[in-house]
Order: sequence, then structure tokens, then C-alpha cells
Amino acid sequence: MANPSLGIRSEECLEIIATENCKGEKVNKLNRFESRARPNARLISAFGINNSFTTTDQSRASSFRGQIAGIVTIPFQTTEKGEKLVLGWIDLVEKARGVIQRELNGAKQSHSLVDVLQMTTMKMSLQVLFGIDAEDLDRDRDIRALASWVNEQWIRSKYFEDGSIEDPWHFSNQHDIHDLLRHISPVLLSDLGDNPDNPLNRILPGYETLWRIVLRCLVEVASNRHSIEDRRLWQTILQRFAENPSIVPLDKKDQGISAGIIASEALRLYPPYRHIYRTYEVGTQQFERIAGVEECHRSDPRWGPDPTKFLPSRWASLPDLTETQAMNDYFLAFGAAPFQCPAATRIPNTDKSSLDKTYLPFSISMIALLVGLFTKEMSNKWKLTGSAELESASEPLTASRRDYKDLIFEKI
Ligand code: HEM
Repeated sequence: MANPSLGIRSEECLEIIATENCKGEKVNKLNRFESRARPNARLISAFGINNSFTTTDQSRASSFRGQIAGIVTIPFQTTEKGEKLVLGWIDLVEKARGVIQRELNGAKQSHSLVDVLQMTTMKMSLQVLFGIDAEDLDRDRDIRALASWVNEQWIRSKYFEDGSIEDPWHFSNQHDIHDLLRHISPVLLSDLGDNPDNPLNRILPGYETLWRIVLRCLVEVASNRHSIEDRRLWQTILQRFAENPSIVPLDKKDQGISAGIIASEALRLYPPYRHIYRTYEVGTQQFERIAGVEECHRSDPRWGPDPTKFLPSRWASLPDLTETQAMNDYFLAFGAAPFQCPAATRIPNTDKSSLDKTYLPFSISMIALLVGLFTKEMSNKWKLTGSAELESASEPLTASRRDYKDLIFEKI
């Protein structure tokens, strides 16, 4: 395969993500599902998954997308749907608060930030995706181990050549992980092969992105990288949203900044998908093109001055978050058409009897409320200490999945 090419302007990124055109000409012989699935083949070997990211089958891709879109459309209050209880945002916040309090309480004087965040986001992912009660403590050891394994296996998979993987690391041979998934809940007692029922199909896209962005957003708003005044303002706004997790508080501005803006600024500076890969086949040549989302977010002049700094106030001079133009044209953290992330959108509620006029955008809301809850729990009790990088806000935080293992919550 020829050397990959990296696109860093938003127009190039949009072209690459859409898969059809190369430099404006419709030349790719692969259809868009093949073009997306090929660079993700390593995820099949590593996790046995069969989902939108890995399938070349259009109907599988759209049914999976539809399933996820349904799950992340969460009402404000818990409701009954037939026999099933659908947990609303109010109860989800209470579950998350309970998880965070248990993680931080106890006799220990310090806790690893990475461990706590991985555990919290894995528990919330299992709650939302499978209804596994985040407050049930019986499976904590297994859930912690799963959360850490997903990250380590992801890092290993980066080194697999052409999607293949050495035998011991192949998902089919990861028997301990299969047992672990089965121990966590009978809900996960499905066939674990390259299979539509493999629970990792759902777990991976959400958990893998959320824990890393919550970490970076929390470090920006809670460590000493920014002035005490800025931190106080950001934390108050996020905590207010966590107290009332609905659309008006998500957008409510204080000094030009809202909870949604703080989460979006974290996603702009630290997009969990730093690069989006596509395979192209043109003539007899196959090559990879890469949409450089992080590079694009950090260089596009439309984001204003100091693009490598975490500055939620920059959004005051941008179009409103509810206007989709900027979000579609140059905010690429959730990808772009035709594959934009289903956990990114605001959906109007057509049920006239509901007070909820719009469903919250899942990921932005989850980031804002987890960071809000963490800062609330930390106040006057815990501080973040660790890497020297936290001293200066002039450099962005680093992006590797192995970074910040030395960061801790330290008792004050
Ligand atoms: C901060 C959190 C998240 C970020 C930054 C993010 C980012 C993305 C991006 C960049 C894509 C496009 C990938 C591509 O074009 O190849 C995508 C697609 C997708 N994401 Fe997310 N995502 C997040 C959370 C989630 C969550 C929580 C779920 C599910 C529970 C999810 C499910 C999906 C699915 C199913 C697709 C494929 C969409 C399709 O095929 O049309 N994501 N996401």
C-alpha cells in the first residue's frame, strides 16, 4: 500500500471522512463501508467486534447505528417502556455520583486518576448500554479489570500489521476476558466471537472515547493550569448542569460560557479520534488517507487565537452551539457525514405530553456531568497532583493512552 496522506484542512478532512472523492474527483472504487472498515480490521482481531466501524455490510452498519441512537436518546426522568425501565438523566446522575463517591471515599490518601476515571466511565457505559446497575458493587473487580484491559488491548492493536495479530493476543484466545465479561453480568453472556452480540461492539466506541476526554477536561478545569477565577467559573457552570441535567442548563451561559461549551472546547482541543482513517482504491493502487482532526482543530483560524489552549471563552465569538453550521464544517470531534457519531446529536422530542422538548446530546452531556460531579466531590477534599505538564497551560496536555498514569487525586 502506498504511504498514507494526512489531511489537515477541514475541507480535506470532510472529503476524506466521506470516502468518495480524492481532490474533488469521484475516484474511490471502494464503497464507503469498505473504505471505513479496512483500516479498522485490527479491531476485529483484537476485540472480536462486528459493528459500524468494522462491517462492510450496509444493513449491519445502519441497524447497529440505529440501535445505539435509540439507547443514547435518554429522557429527563426515568420512564417505563413496556416491561422495561428506561433510566432518565436525573437517575443517571445519581448513579454516577454514587460511583464517584465510592471510588474516592475510604481510608486511602490518594487514588490514581486514570484508574478512577476508567472505572467510572466503564460503569456508566455498562449502565447505559446494558442496564447493569452502576451501584452494584459485586462485580467491581471484574469491571476494573475490563476497563484496564480494553485500553491495553487497544494500544497493542495499534502495532498489528495489516489487521492481523499474534495468536495469544487474538480475541478468540483471550479466555480470561471472555470469563470476565460473563462474570460481569448474565446480560453479557452472549456468544463472544466476531459476532453481532459481542458486548464489546457497544462498549468500545463509547467507553474508549469517554474516559480519555473526561480525563483531559477534568485536568483542564480542576488542576492549577488555569487561574482560580476561571476554574471557579467553569466548575460552577458544570456543577449547575449536573444538578439539573436538561437542555436549558446545558446551554445556559454565564460570562459567555455554558456546560456544553466547556465540554465542546475539551473535544476541540483533545478530540479522542485524533485521526480518522480511510482506505482508497484508485486505479490499481490502494492507499490510506487520514483526516487529521486534531491538527485541523488546532490550526483552523476560525477557532480564533491561541488554538492550542483550552479557552472556553473562544466560543463566545462563534456561532451558537445549536446552529449546526460550525459544528458540521469544522468541529470534527464526532466525525462528519455520512458517519457522524449517533451519540453527538440533539434530537427534538415529538412527544407533546413530555416536558422534555429536546433530548440531550449524549456524549457532551456525559462529559459535562461527570466532570461537574468530580469537581463537586473534590471541593476542599481532593486535589490533582502529578505530571509536570500540569504546571503550564501554554502547552496542551498530551494525547497518548498511556499518559498521566502518575496523576493522582490527593487528599487535602
Ligand atoms: C466523546 C465521546 C465520543 C466521541 C468523540 C465519538 C466520536 C466518533 C467519531 C469521530 C465517529 C466517526 C468515525 C468514522 O467516521 O470513522 C463516531 C462514530 C460512531 N460513534 Fe461515537 N464518539 C463518542 C461517543 C460515542 C458513544 C458513547 C457511542 C455509543 C454508545 C458511540 C457510537 C458511535 C457509533 C455507533 C458510530 C458509527 C456511526 C455510523 O456508522 O454512522 N460514540 N464517533
